[in-house]
Amino acid sequence: FTMPSTDAWAGYFAQAGTTLSDNPSYLLLALGSFPIVAVVLNVLNQFLPKDRTRPPVVFHWFPFIGSAIHYGMDPLGFFLSCREKYGNVFTFILLGRKVTVALGAAGNNFILGGKSNVFNAEDAYTHFTTPVFGKDVVYDCPNDKFMEQKKFIKYSLTGDRFREYVGMITEEVEGFIKKDETFAAYQANSKEWAKFDAVETLSQITILTAARTLQGKEVRDNLDKTFAHLYSDLDGGFKPINFLFPNLPLESYRARDRAHKKIADFYIDIIQKRKSGTTENVDDVMGYLMQQKYRNGQQIPDHEVAHMLIALLMAGQHTSSATGAWATLHIAENPELVEVMYAEQVKHFGNPDGSFREMTFEEMRDLPVLDAVIRETLRMHPPIHSIMRGVREDVPVPTSLASPDKEGGVYIIPKGNYTLASPIMSQMDPSIWVHPERFETARWTDPEGFAKQALRTYDDKDGEKIDFGFGLVSKGTESPYQPFGAGRHRCIGEQFAYLQLGVVLTTLVRHLEMKLGAPFPGNDYTTMITMPLAPRDVYYRRRPTAV
Ligand code: HEM
Repeated sequence: FTMPSTDAWAGYFAQAGTTLSDNPSYLLLALGSFPIVAVVLNVLNQFLPKDRTRPPVVFHWFPFIGSAIHYGMDPLGFFLSCREKYGNVFTFILLGRKVTVALGAAGNNFILGGKSNVFNAEDAYTHFTTPVFGKDVVYDCPNDKFMEQKKFIKYSLTGDRFREYVGMITEEVEGFIKKDETFAAYQANSKEWAKFDAVETLSQITILTAARTLQGKEVRDNLDKTFAHLYSDLDGGFKPINFLFPNLPLESYRARDRAHKKIADFYIDIIQKRKSGTTENVDDVMGYLMQQKYRNGQQIPDHEVAHMLIALLMAGQHTSSATGAWATLHIAENPELVEVMYAEQVKHFGNPDGSFREMTFEEMRDLPVLDAVIRETLRMHPPIHSIMRGVREDVPVPTSLASPDKEGGVYIIPKGNYTLASPIMSQMDPSIWVHPERFETARWTDPEGFAKQALRTYDDKDGEKIDFGFGLVSKGTESPYQPFGAGRHRCIGEQFAYLQLGVVLTTLVRHLEMKLGAPFPGNDYTTMITMPLAPRDVYYRRRPTAV
């Protein structure tokens, strides 16, 4: 067999072109068979001898689409089946992107502990986050500038401010159950059971409490009016389709962009009024950011303050509301646990007339049952199941990371790929957690509990602390428990989220008995943040003691 010459190929194509244009049915046939040819070539290509320095590629029928459907519908199931076939390190195709996964605690450490000029977050996220958050913040600026922004935000979310937040959040939740129509049975003092949708209710409560605390009075007051639909339009930009296609000529994209502009303008207007003295300067997060300077001496420009505030609200909204919804469903599934949480409240804060005194921030951190409920919810339902980075340089991975019996070799993850670490895989791993599929608060409350033992094995050997530019944090990249990520991109909202979730859950428990009316819901992975599938109703009844 000899390859035809270039001229011969040109002749064949010219001939084929003439035949096709002379006879349209050939053209249709040729076009119609194109997908079949593409599938066949794609499959054949996967059976050709492999470059052994590359991680194995997950078998897929369709080019471009790759494993998007299996991963998108059931990431945990997808990772488990891939681990069985390929080990802990493999590459899959996600709508044209090559994504190399490193599973397990060692995989998380490899990716999250890597250098940011090699494993880069901006490359993985900016197309998706910048239209929502805005320019010059988070992933739309150099990493060291973002680390300074994280430091400003982290320092604005501590101490005295947190102390005030407890009262504000309690007031919002109580106001909600006293006014919202979902809680009509509560308001009517009825002894009957009624229901609320866990996702709907917890997302509304989350945005109200986050706006009141993080965004300030002006924003909270407007949330009942024009802002609700603007936030919903902006939120429409946080869907998987936006992750895959940053800009499409669709109304939801235009609505996202309009909403971003209006909200940012609204914040900038408040900032300017505060600066000019037209309105009072308030000691809130906005006020704090307005006073800060970057290391180069530059004051944070108004639009960056506005964009950071939007980022704060959006980063916390889905993550906290999903966790709140899952936690409410888990406690309602086990009405005894609702009562144990209630007893914990009575013991620490109960008044003789059945009312409660306000918790302080410090006291709240010392409630083992509440703490265990939140921790266990985050173990089973980390809202961010996949953490991605863009690969900026060819990176060697020891093959022993893929499997202990592959000692001694290396794979190269090529520049241009993406990498993925999955907290949910290590948090649901049966070799680390006893019965990981069970919601067991005892994992965390028993001093010799199995969760603590599992974690101790992996805890950073010497409790190593690092400053990536936003204050000292424990390295944490080796832990199999990472609902808040680890390393340079670790969450700075963790303490706020615990505070918000803690006050929301205890306020509900103080006023309501709860139970489930249907089997526990499964996972909806098709939303960016894993949500419970409908129906996800929680049945509630007003406590006889509620005041
Ligand atoms: C980063 C989870 C709440 C702000 C992260 C990351 C995770 C996470 C996994 C790491 C992402 C990565 O490495 O790519 C959560 C969970 C929350 C929560 C589970 C609630 C239960 C919040 C809240 C805020 C917030 C309330 C704001 C007040 C941030 C910010 C980052 C971050 C600014 C830094 C991103 C980076 O450095 O790249 N979060 N988060 N989060 N989170 Fe959260």
